[in-house]
Amino acid sequence: MVNTLNPSFVTGSSWKPDLFKGKVAFITGGAGTICRVQAEALILLGCKVAIVGRDAQKTAEVCDELNQLDPEKGAAGSKALSLCNIDVRNYDQMVSAVKQTVSVYGRIDFVICGAAGNFICDLTNLSANAFKTVIDIDLIGSYNTIKATFDELYKSRGSIIFVSATFHYYGVPFQSHVGAAKAGIDALSQAIAVEWGPLGIRSNCIAPGAISGTEGFKRLTLKEHRENLENNKSNGGKATNPLVGKIPLGRLGTTKDIAEATVFLFSPSASYITGTVTVVDGGMWHLGTIFGDKMYPDMLKEKMKLPTRDLDHKL
Ligand SMILES: NC(=O)c1ccc[n+]([C@@H]2O[C@H](COP(=O)([O-])OP(=O)(O)OC[C@H]3O[C@@H](n4cnc5c(N)ncnc54)[C@H](OP(=O)(O)O)[C@@H]3O)[C@@H](O)[C@H]2O)c1
Repeated sequence: MVNTLNPSFVTGSSWKPDLFKGKVAFITGGAGTICRVQAEALILLGCKVAIVGRDAQKTAEVCDELNQLDPEKGAAGSKALSLCNIDVRNYDQMVSAVKQTVSVYGRIDFVICGAAGNFICDLTNLSANAFKTVIDIDLIGSYNTIKATFDELYKSRGSIIFVSATFHYYGVPFQSHVGAAKAGIDALSQAIAVEWGPLGIRSNCIAPGAISGTEGFKRLTLKEHRENLENNKSNGGKATNPLVGKIPLGRLGTTKDIAEATVFLFSPSASYITGTVTVVDGGMWHLGTIFGDKMYPDMLKEKMKLPTRDLDHKL
């Protein structure tokens, strides 16, 4: 994968150069499709980033690519630090990742809790272990991250962004595990906003919608949702892709959209904003997600493998 953003993100955007000069961000899932672009934006605006992940090769490669973006390339030291073989479920490993970050960069100002796992599965087929795994990575992993970074956030009067979702705003089939985890994350963020607000620490969530080109989008959508994605309105003014047709702003989200929201929430412009959820989904959740299209109830019946009459009764 290559970088999505380039210096035009600064010259042609709402943000000023060096907005985050001297700041350090600690990002779990920072080698993933969404969070790496959050990291790109922060680096382009002068921030240093520490990227936490399990996969050593992927994390190191992404950090190499992020370093290509360094606006001060050639200056001493790199702007992206690879913290691999770290599992957010393991608190001791998170403490060690924080120590490494502070020993290299000296501080932590921003934390992004982005590490997550997801797959489509109805509750009947979801094992207790699978449910627990998602709760462990998304929710407990987020807890471990903010707990391990607290001392640094306290010193820097820092700011946290949790990467949430919209899967818990109403009943979404095949996503009970993620919905439960993200609902917990929203609750955690709000409680932190209240408990750590007096210490000068802000806490907010970003809830992405359908973000094209991401791992999450690939895993959660049907093939027909990934085809013909351009906003083709030649068909009598209607979008031809069934998914795009359900997004009020008429297009899929981009990783840059999430990066823009991230920069705003970390910037001084958001200094009075805490305890919020910024939904970046083009208005999609108000109409119901794609899971209500084709996947429900036909796919649910198929997956549950129960006689149709029983299901019809239950549904
Ligand atoms: N894509 C979407 O459309 C969408 C929509 C709503 C919300 N979101 C949220 O946005 C975030 C990023 O999603 P994405 O689609 O960009 O996913 P992604 O590309 O799969 O990235 C997730 C990252 O999390 C890391 N990770 C997973 N388990 C981990 C663990 N136990 N310990 C440490 N790191 C772990 C992975 O790195 P390793 O493999 O190295 O562990 C991976 O780089 C997630 O929180 C997701 O729930 C995405």
